[in-house]
Amino acid sequence: MTEEQFLSRYSKEFDPPVRGDPITGARYYSKDYMDLEWKNLWPRIWHLGGMMGELEEEGDWVCHNFGKESVIMVKQKDGGVRAFYNACRHRGNRLVNGTSGGAPRITCGYHGWQFSADGVLRHVQDEGDYPGGSPCGKVSLIELRCEVWGGMIFWNMDENAKPLLEWLDPLPDRLAAYGIDDWVRVMYLSAECNFNWKIVRDNFNESYHLPTIHPELATFINDGLPDTLFEMYPSGHNGMWMKGHQATGRVEAYNTGEAPPPLDAIAAAWGLNPADYKGRTNDIRAAVIEAKRKLGPERGFHNYASMSDQQLVDYYHITLFPNLTLTFAPEAFQVLRTEPHPTDPEKCIFDHWYVAVNNPQMPGVETPIGNMPLKWAEKKVSVHGDGESLGFVADQDLSIGTNQQLGLNSRGYVGAILPMQEKRVQRFHELLDDHVYERI
Ligand code: FES
Ligand SMILES: [Fe+2]
Repeated sequence: MTEEQFLSRYSKEFDPPVRGDPITGARYYSKDYMDLEWKNLWPRIWHLGGMMGELEEEGDWVCHNFGKESVIMVKQKDGGVRAFYNACRHRGNRLVNGTSGGAPRITCGYHGWQFSADGVLRHVQDEGDYPGGSPCGKVSLIELRCEVWGGMIFWNMDENAKPLLEWLDPLPDRLAAYGIDDWVRVMYLSAECNFNWKIVRDNFNESYHLPTIHPELATFINDGLPDTLFEMYPSGHNGMWMKGHQATGRVEAYNTGEAPPPLDAIAAAWGLNPADYKGRTNDIRAAVIEAKRKLGPERGFHNYASMSDQQLVDYYHITLFPNLTLTFAPEAFQVLRTEPHPTDPEKCIFDHWYVAVNNPQMPGVETPIGNMPLKWAEKKVSVHGDGESLGFVADQDLSIGTNQQLGLNSRGYVGAILPMQEKRVQRFHELLDDHVYERI
């Protein structure tokens, strides 16, 4: 393959230059670097905090602990949502614990101060004992920016941050056709891991590891070069389009022989006879597009009508700078979020959500993630390595984490040597340094 062919994998529209700054080891273990991230990176970005579908009535809340911070997002009377720091205005006690809850008042467990859903203090003990008069109605919880997109609630500590939709650019446009607003989170796994949060980001910013870490995907996702398309958006986020419903060029079944599992079952699920594609398994992708266009509406997939052919069969893997990945299949997306540990740079928190199209037209129909209608999942917390799965593919990704952390601590790691297809890793670290060292 010529260099020109390699380069063609980058969309011409979204291929900014990189500088080639060294990717040093210290950023993965240094407390100083972690402190700079806490000071200059995390307060400036939008954080995914929860989903609107979890909040039914006024006063219902979801809570997101992030590093040393904790944010409560509370449903308002008008149906909207507002975010507040989870710290009592009396003497700072954390107000709520747990992931979600709901009550007309948020009541502090220490001296019983009560706040209404709009964050205003409504009740204190011994109200007449305050020198300036009662604080009720005058004091409020400290509020943060809070905006919603695609049923997902985001918060931001920076009052001057760009609006969420601008920060997400161009993803709201790119993803509009999927119609995700009422999709349901059917899985919520969370684990504390023994490696820096950026190890996972690096992994999600490249597909170079697929042949070695995820060999099972190769029979139904074409991860080969140059079939994969990479895009790096001006906003700092990036995308990777990978052809689905097709084997990758490395495997024997690539356009020859019988359709391999699970490609055969996927084809059959859309009414195709896998045997018809013997010797031309690549044609299954186009046939599934046709079948989905025809059968989608009667199977309740109303989102198909607005989706492009590519969206109907391919995987759109998006990494938002700095720490959030959304991987889109036509009927579900995964949230893969990596957050810093509150104090230890060599640990992180990894969260995996699976959010699926809500398809009430298919009652009782079994799907890979349960039976319709789908149910909201409770958060399940574990420690990585204790035997709890974080999802089959995620387990594979995380399996390298601890070993890589060890290697990055060595004098023998003197900076990364990257092939062109890992340009997104390079760009991530340059954007990160620009934030951390206050260059942007
Ligand atoms: S710290 Fe909350 S009521 Fe005292
Ligand atoms: Fe992976």
